[in-house]
Amino acid sequence: MDTRSFIRALPKAELHVHIEGTLEPEMMVALAERNGVDLPFATVEEVRAAYEFSDLQSFLDIYYQGAAVLVTEQDFYDLMYAYLERAVDDGVRRAEIFFDPQTHTERGIGFPVFMNGFTRAVGDAEERWGISAGLIMCFLRHLPGDAATSTWHEAEPFADRIIGVGLDSGEVGNPPERFAQAYALARAAGLHSVAHAGEEGPPAYITGALDALGAERIDHGVRCDEDPALVERLVREQTPLTMCPLSNLKLRVVDRLEDHSLKRLLDSGIRVTINSDDPAYFGGYVLDNYVAAAEALNLSREDLIALARNSIEAAFLGSKGKRVLLDELTQIAAA
Ligand code: ADE
Ligand code: ZN
Repeated sequence: MDTRSFIRALPKAELHVHIEGTLEPEMMVALAERNGVDLPFATVEEVRAAYEFSDLQSFLDIYYQGAAVLVTEQDFYDLMYAYLERAVDDGVRRAEIFFDPQTHTERGIGFPVFMNGFTRAVGDAEERWGISAGLIMCFLRHLPGDAATSTWHEAEPFADRIIGVGLDSGEVGNPPERFAQAYALARAAGLHSVAHAGEEGPPAYITGALDALGAERIDHGVRCDEDPALVERLVREQTPLTMCPLSNLKLRVVDRLEDHSLKRLLDSGIRVTINSDDPAYFGGYVLDNYVAAAEALNLSREDLIALARNSIEAAFLGSKGKRVLLDELTQIAAA
């Protein structure tokens, strides 16, 4: 069996994917037309040609522009349903999906519009394909801490449709501590917490996310290996890292995939997982990320099984849900 088919067959969880980052150029252009939204691009080819990024911010500028085509409940439904269909095709059995409410509320799109679209699509996909999915609401870290707290209050009526909160957008200069209040409220309501840290920002932001936000997983965490004491802590506490190799390559966090820290960190005992981040922008969904990492880093079948196992263990699933997937993984690994 070739590597791609082997990885596809492994039951996996995707734990780091931004739903707005799954907006394919074809859907972007179609929704712009459907909603009468002006885009700075006339064709799908022009959209694709604009995807040359020099860093995180150069990507975010285009990404927030693209999200403006999402207007109606049906748009959010179509986006979520298309991602879940794609994920099923990659062998994803559990998806924990980020969304950025402030990107939409600041354009006058209210919580009921996107929440109803997302939850209806998740329900339909679960029924149709048996995939399990949960939503993680991210606060935008380039905005003030107070804005995150207000967003939390707006989200409260929908809190039973969200499994956790996260933190994303431009990292450097926007440390996690500013968001402690919003996170404390979400945790008090029983939600899980995760945070982007150490993508472009320093290891201190990872420590801050753990200590000030109570983050249970770190999204990216690439720069943790600059601080040996932090690596030791991540191993000791078994804090999962949701790594995204193709994203790191496209946003020039690493110059070459061969230099990525993923394999070294896996070998050092950190609970590393592989994910897609913004697959419509970075040239690959989760299976493509596994395959690219396998090739560049010479990952063995044991490594690939360990990565899939880590993704299931790091998921916010009950013990019964994890057991079903882990038993299946063990059977496939033994075959
Ligand atoms: N929003 C979408 N993708 C992101 C990333 N890779 N880092 C920070 N914020 C994001
Ligand atoms: Zn991300």
